[in-house]
Amino acid sequence: MFSKIELAKKYLRYWTKASNGKGHGTHSPFVYDFIRKVLMDNDSHPEFARIEQLRQQLRKDNTLLEIRDFGAGSRVDDHKQRAVSSIAKSALKPAKYSQLFYKIIQHYNYKNRLELGTSLGITTSYLANANKDGKVYTFEGAPSVATVAQKTFTNLELSNIELTEGNFDETLPAFLANYKDKIDFSFIDGNHREQPTINYYEQLLPFTHNDSVIILDDIHWSQGMENAWYNIIERPEVTLSIDLFFIGLVFFRKENKEKEHFTIRY
Ligand SMILES: C[S@@+](CC[C@H](N)C(=O)[O-])C[C@H]1O[C@@H](n2cnc3c(N)ncnc32)[C@H](O)[C@@H]1O
Repeated sequence: MFSKIELAKKYLRYWTKASNGKGHGTHSPFVYDFIRKVLMDNDSHPEFARIEQLRQQLRKDNTLLEIRDFGAGSRVDDHKQRAVSSIAKSALKPAKYSQLFYKIIQHYNYKNRLELGTSLGITTSYLANANKDGKVYTFEGAPSVATVAQKTFTNLELSNIELTEGNFDETLPAFLANYKDKIDFSFIDGNHREQPTINYYEQLLPFTHNDSVIILDDIHWSQGMENAWYNIIERPEVTLSIDLFFIGLVFFRKENKEKEHFTIRY
């Protein structure tokens, strides 16, 4: 993982090089629409307040959980025991991004959604609330963490979520072997290492369609994650990629005859 100073320098470079986030001068109609209708959509929805209230409760919850360290571990500590509050403060996607996912799902009417890395279920709850049709398939390796996530779903009365426990390396291929549909929206947010990230992408790829999106978390977090990101966006099936620094989005739209890459302030 990059040091805080390296990350800050990267962020500064991103901010100065990125397009302004308002869509001016963007020639791609799809990206222009994405910027204006999704990135710039500041609307709040009634569900947001309920989910954020729960996030605040989790941030104050000092219950200790036994955690098996998966993947690249946590940014904060690799202790085997962690308080729910510590996870809630450091491992979850901030509201801005979870709400962006909600807006993406609504804008493109995505039904089948998949998330690798449930954690406490906060982002999952946004994904589930965004569309009550179809399901969210979410995967978590730490049983104690998955138990808290299940309580989150019960609290928010969400019934369109299927949580699978276990190591992604086993649970994802097992799930996909029996999965018969396409996946509209995938969010890869766990095991932030180069090869596993590429493997998960490759496993999900056969389940994508022309309008699917795959979102990768923390694409500039470490050299390995940057390598995975650049490896993926160079692939021929990726016709459009968007770098928002803390996340990266890849699209497969055949309408994009020429491969395009955008770095946009967000
Ligand atoms: C960054 S957190 C996910 C945060 C969540 N998506 C959110 O925004 O609220 C990553 C989660 O992935 C889980 N994880 C990491 N590597 C894993 C693996 N190889 N198999 C299963 N779970 C894993 C961790 O236990 C952790 O809870």
